[in-house]
Amino acid sequence: MAKKVNDLCGIKESDTGLAAPSQWDLVSDKQMMQEEQPLQVARCTKIINPNSEDAKYVINVKQIAKFVVGLGDKVSPTDIEEGMRVGVDRNKYQIQIPLPPKIDPSVTMMTVEEKPDVTYNDVGGCKEQIEKMREVVELPMLHPEKFVKLGIDPPKGVLCYGPPGTGKTLLARAVANRTDACFIRVIGSELVQKYVGEGARMVRELFQMARSKKACIVFFDEVDAIGGARFDDGVGGDNEVQRTMLEIVNQLDGFDARGNIKVLMATNRPDTLDPALLRPGRLDRKVEFGLPDLESRTQIFKIHTRTMNCERDIRFELLARLCPNSTGADIRSVCTEAGMYAIRARRKTVTEKDFLDAVNKVIKGYQKFSATPKYMVYN
Ligand SMILES: Nc1ncnc2c1ncn2[C@@H]1O[C@H](COP(=O)(O)OP(=O)(O)OP(=O)(O)O)[C@@H](O)[C@H]1O
Ligand SMILES: [Mg+2]
Repeated sequence: MAKKVNDLCGIKESDTGLAAPSQWDLVSDKQMMQEEQPLQVARCTKIINPNSEDAKYVINVKQIAKFVVGLGDKVSPTDIEEGMRVGVDRNKYQIQIPLPPKIDPSVTMMTVEEKPDVTYNDVGGCKEQIEKMREVVELPMLHPEKFVKLGIDPPKGVLCYGPPGTGKTLLARAVANRTDACFIRVIGSELVQKYVGEGARMVRELFQMARSKKACIVFFDEVDAIGGARFDDGVGGDNEVQRTMLEIVNQLDGFDARGNIKVLMATNRPDTLDPALLRPGRLDRKVEFGLPDLESRTQIFKIHTRTMNCERDIRFELLARLCPNSTGADIRSVCTEAGMYAIRARRKTVTEKDFLDAVNKVIKGYQKFSATPKYMVYN
């Protein structure tokens, strides 16, 4: 009976599931574990007589010695290239497996594996910005032949700029959600390191990792942390940061083919960025995120109240009219405040009055803290 059930469910041994105990073969498993010795990491520095029968490989085991060795049974000569990292066994030092290049774990960690739960539908307004962004990110990946036919290079990167809270990071997350390409997210300050040259090395490894993927999007958030214009402070304290930025510039159009890498950057101080970073050919597109207009604000209200337990027929347009010059983040805060008012009054639904109170509190009360006017000057 159990067999029949298993047959019907189609249980097989896989990485995620366990086979039924009746299929276990403990003896041969144990034997296999004994056969598989731990391997040692080495670097294949040279291939002697490549493409011939008696090809030999020079490997360099760090801090021990160099050896001339052959291949194990499980690798084919085409797998091994010069300069590659390989795994060798401990007895005869034969090459057993090819290994991927060594990448700093903190760089590997930047890959976004879990897709964020933000979609384009969660971004209110910003129609133009979404359109421009998708053109750069999606079109070259989906229809590369269009660019080939016209004989132009697709744009390589986008700079998003605008006052805080206007949805730059949000849109990048929506892009990450939609794309099947590998998405790497870097916060500018993560690249600022203690030791000289470390930041530049991280950038190099980052792009090396990106290049090894079929298609990849690299998103630098708050890029002004490293992309500041070069200047001489007389002490040299900022040189390290500048070197990191120059490495990005170098990687953007440097010697190595960039493959299918798109670079997105976000900042709210575009005026402080180094001109070298911004010149066409590196970041071709510059997308401004302005304050949302009336229609967009209404939409953002609707997006943020979608999951809230509100009274019916709340006049969102009226609310949007009451918050002139406010950003998406402000509107979100209004919605949260309205919920707080309802909780305070021990109600289960949020009424329009709560929203009006919240508008008074957030938009009028917090005007002192609003950084938007200041940032509008820079943008
Ligand atoms: N157009 C929008 N539609 C819906 N929600 C928005 C919009 N703009 C901003 N928000 C809300 O504001 C929050 C903050 O936005 P976001 O993190 O994108 O700001 P930012 O532009 O990256 O700001 P900063 O420059 O300070 O990093 C978002 O989580 C979102 O809830
Ligand atoms: Mg942001």
